[in-house]
Amino acid sequence: MNRFEGKSIIVTGAGSGIGRASAKRFAAEGGKVLCADKAASVHETVEAITADGGTAIGIEMDAGSESDVKTLVEKAVAEFGGLDIAYANAGITGGLQGGLFDSDAESWAEVLRVNLIGPFLMIKYAAPEIEKRGGGAIICTASVAGIRSGAGPSSYSASKAGVINLVQTAAQQMTGSGVRVNAVCPGLIETGMTQRVFDYAREAGKMDKVGQLNPMKRAGQPEELAAVVTFLASDDASYLNGQAIAVDGGLSSSHPVTRQLPKQAAV
Ligand SMILES: NC(=O)c1ccc[n+]([C@@H]2O[C@H](COP(=O)([O-])OP(=O)(O)OC[C@H]3O[C@@H](n4cnc5c(N)ncnc54)[C@H](O)[C@@H]3O)[C@@H](O)[C@H]2O)c1
Repeated sequence: MNRFEGKSIIVTGAGSGIGRASAKRFAAEGGKVLCADKAASVHETVEAITADGGTAIGIEMDAGSESDVKTLVEKAVAEFGGLDIAYANAGITGGLQGGLFDSDAESWAEVLRVNLIGPFLMIKYAAPEIEKRGGGAIICTASVAGIRSGAGPSSYSASKAGVINLVQTAAQQMTGSGVRVNAVCPGLIETGMTQRVFDYAREAGKMDKVGQLNPMKRAGQPEELAAVVTFLASDDASYLNGQAIAVDGGLSSSHPVTRQLPKQAAV
């Protein structure tokens, strides 16, 4: 498939995990990708893409900074002649001590700045450029943690719930623009963010326990997110707008009840 031939694409959080896998997939399908991350590892993503014959450039920036996001969008326009697709994916957990009574206003503000204000800024600066090209797509990374409690620290969960609402609001506010805005809500995916869980499980010989709460009984891989993100960005999703799609093996499809399985299917 060459769904993104000639398209100009921004991906934040492209130095690792879901962002890196998505940047690679966009480039593998012909896109010109501006890879952005606060970490220098973004340059390794660019090297991997160019080694595979793709087109990418890298920039170190802060996805929660208004001036950085404005500069990022300007760079995409300057380097690639415009902008067609933006993926606001950079995110932080804010640490695992995220119970309501363990955190403070400062730590909440930082999580909201990166995870929620970051996607807002991307929409604010990317949408007018995408509209100039006659339309395109913005995708934001939310989380199953934004759907209901139980999948992350409190500030993280609130920030991701905000992203789900943001894509709904933005889609409505861009009525008639040709710019679609959607979110993905990953479940447990093996990335830099969750690496400690996987390392611990491997060391303890407990990998069979990871991801057991979803009906597919496993965690996801970044490439499985990239497949959905690139679908949402493509013309295949031309009538899909203002939605938050859970990519979680079915985790969020049920309340936590004991599974009633037919005997032959019981596992
Ligand atoms: N891994 C999971 O299980 C999971 C589940 C649900 C949602 N998510 C979300 O997926 C997105 C991608 O995370 P991931 O799992 O690939 O983790 P990751 O840690 O592998 O990648 C996140 C990237 O974002 C970058 N980043 C963080 N703050 C930034 C900032 N201020 N400016 C620019 N870049 C910044 C990091 O340097 C890193 O490269 C995040 O929004 C995360 O909240 C992940």
